[in-house]
Amino acid sequence: MMSYKNLGLSNTKKMFENAMAGEYAVPAYNFNNMEQIQAIITACVESQSPVILQVSKGARSYANETLLKFMGQGAIEMMKEMAKQKGLKEIPIALHLDHGDSFETCKACIDSGFSSVMIDGSHFPYEENIALTKKVVDYAHEFNVTVEGELGVLAGVEDDVVAEESTYTKPEEVVDFVSRTGVDSLAISIGTSHGANKFTPEQCTKNEDGVFVPPPLKFKILEAIEEQLPGFPIVLHGSSSVPLEAVKIINENGGAIKDAVGLPETELKNATKSAVCKVNIDSDGRLWMTATLRKVFAESPSEFDPRKYLGPARSALIEMYKHKNKNVLGSSNRV
Ligand code: G3H
Ligand code: 13P
Ligand code: ZN
Repeated sequence: MMSYKNLGLSNTKKMFENAMAGEYAVPAYNFNNMEQIQAIITACVESQSPVILQVSKGARSYANETLLKFMGQGAIEMMKEMAKQKGLKEIPIALHLDHGDSFETCKACIDSGFSSVMIDGSHFPYEENIALTKKVVDYAHEFNVTVEGELGVLAGVEDDVVAEESTYTKPEEVVDFVSRTGVDSLAISIGTSHGANKFTPEQCTKNEDGVFVPPPLKFKILEAIEEQLPGFPIVLHGSSSVPLEAVKIINENGGAIKDAVGLPETELKNATKSAVCKVNIDSDGRLWMTATLRKVFAESPSEFDPRKYLGPARSALIEMYKHKNKNVLGSSNRV
């Protein structure tokens, strides 16, 4: 049993209290490899933002769960050194399991030093979701690890689970769910979805430039949830904006990403002024990494040193994370 506190990690309690009071949201960025974690730490130290490093079940099997855990721990040491070298403050870092699918996965993460876990029982019937979530909370809270639960289903792919359509969170269920499970934060479904095709072309209108304009988020549902749970931290999954610039670079350099539509950053920015305290972003990083790699390969076909193509991809990620912290989530200079 390794306690996250001994590793220098933070749970999300104080992070969310500060985010609620300061009307901003803490970024939760997914990582699967070294360049992604380097970029997240560099960007968040330089913008002085708290950060939640999150790993999915898929990331744990891709990168090897033991190695991934040590990468999370290594991130703390890198952050401390970097802050010292740059004369900046150390930033709070949480290591979080994204979309935990079972008690056993959550327990394994808690036992190995994660400071926060998500148990995603949203695909189960309501009472089963409550029972599973409560079991995880009871275990996690013994070690002061914070737990995120989910009510409502996002359209799109969540690990192995695919939902054709979203089922919005029912505001009348949230008090019962939170009080009976004891969760520390709640992920909700108000129209976002995972991946680079968040809305179908049929769901969108087109602006004068022929660009898809998605339907607005269901802010009324968010308001109703806030009324039911005043001051309670809300989490927004599927919050990538799917930048058209990145999609264009990909498609101009041999890629084929069709009908990509994301969540406009202006809408996300509005959401951060509410009880939304944690915002999950993964796809935007994937898109910028792919765009940069495709461009480098197209422009320098003789290049075969991984540092020469992964390095520029890492630089693009650093810029993107800084932009999110500063201009969208409002988490810059909050440490
Ligand atoms: O929720 C989805 C995240 O983007 C993680 O994706 O399960 O492919 O690692 P993944
Ligand atoms: P995106 O696919 O919009 O980046 O969402 C990521 C996410 O919700 C991870 O849990
Ligand atoms: Zn998610």
